[in-house]
Amino acid sequence: MSLTERPRRLRASQAMRNLVAETVVLPSQLIYPTFIKENLAEPKPIKGLPGVFQNNEASLLAEVDRAINAAIGGIMLFGIPAERDELGTAACKPDGVLNKAVAAVRKRAGDKLVVVADLCLDEFTSHGHCGVLDGKGNVDNDATLITYGKMAVELAKAGAHMLGASGMMDGQVGYVRSELDKAGFTEVAILAYSAKYASAFYGPFRDAVESELQGDRRTYQQDPRNFKESIREVRLDLEQGADIVMVKPALAYLDVIHETSQSVDVPVAAYIVSGEMAMIEVAAEQGLIDRERAILEAVASVRRAGASVICTYWAFELAEMFYARK
Ligand code: PBG
Repeated sequence: MSLTERPRRLRASQAMRNLVAETVVLPSQLIYPTFIKENLAEPKPIKGLPGVFQNNEASLLAEVDRAINAAIGGIMLFGIPAERDELGTAACKPDGVLNKAVAAVRKRAGDKLVVVADLCLDEFTSHGHCGVLDGKGNVDNDATLITYGKMAVELAKAGAHMLGASGMMDGQVGYVRSELDKAGFTEVAILAYSAKYASAFYGPFRDAVESELQGDRRTYQQDPRNFKESIREVRLDLEQGADIVMVKPALAYLDVIHETSQSVDVPVAAYIVSGEMAMIEVAAEQGLIDRERAILEAVASVRRAGASVICTYWAFELAEMFYARK
């Protein structure tokens, strides 16, 4: 039979499929998020995230070496302090767990990796919120900004190339930018968690950082039912000087990633969060899905939607798969 179009021709072999594949995930576009815990004797696995650990300095530096060898783009650090308090004081101390880890990682990595530090208070506060509280127990936006500014300058001094502004306070990008600039850190970039939703998919992460959060973050993170709110948040962050805008979570918000990537002139990042990873890992463990194919499919969807930079706990594995297939 003569058909004018036979799309199947381009699917006939792996080589043919590779030839016409529209998306490629390059290791250089991946950021590996990882955890450093103060006074930790041995690295500790994190439930739901196979291969991801709470690290001590030695195991963290081993991850840095692995990331450099796999030619991954960046590493993103979250700190778990030994002591927490109402104000998250340890976040701004030069010898606090995160600041020290950033310094050690930067020393090891030089400029071979982009060293990203999480700029948020939730790991450091005894109540687990991303900011400081006012007299009524609400997160005080403007008081929090002051602390973010101090924390940002400390992280910059420690050697971070980029700060992940993940707290969802209004005005955080602009305030942090001006504090960095005043302190002479004009070259430190801001990865703005612009569209960050109040998501159930952060579950395993909360365990990973031993979060003491009571309640939820719905007064500052976005409502999952909303789309336009993301457009507004992205616009505000760009007006305030964000270098990269991020959508988080990724898989449940592909529409937001798509729209953002079509409309902005900065790189768009997406964060495949802990619960999104765990869904696939647990289903694969149960023998319900093919793990590797599911991972590649999920990551391809995020690239297809338009994110160029991807934060993912699968970064090592994806990079290693990439090289294995070359
Ligand atoms: C907050 C922060 C969170 C994550 C990254 N940064 C959790 C939250 O908002 O509660 C979640 C990441 C993940 O689930 O993988 N600093």
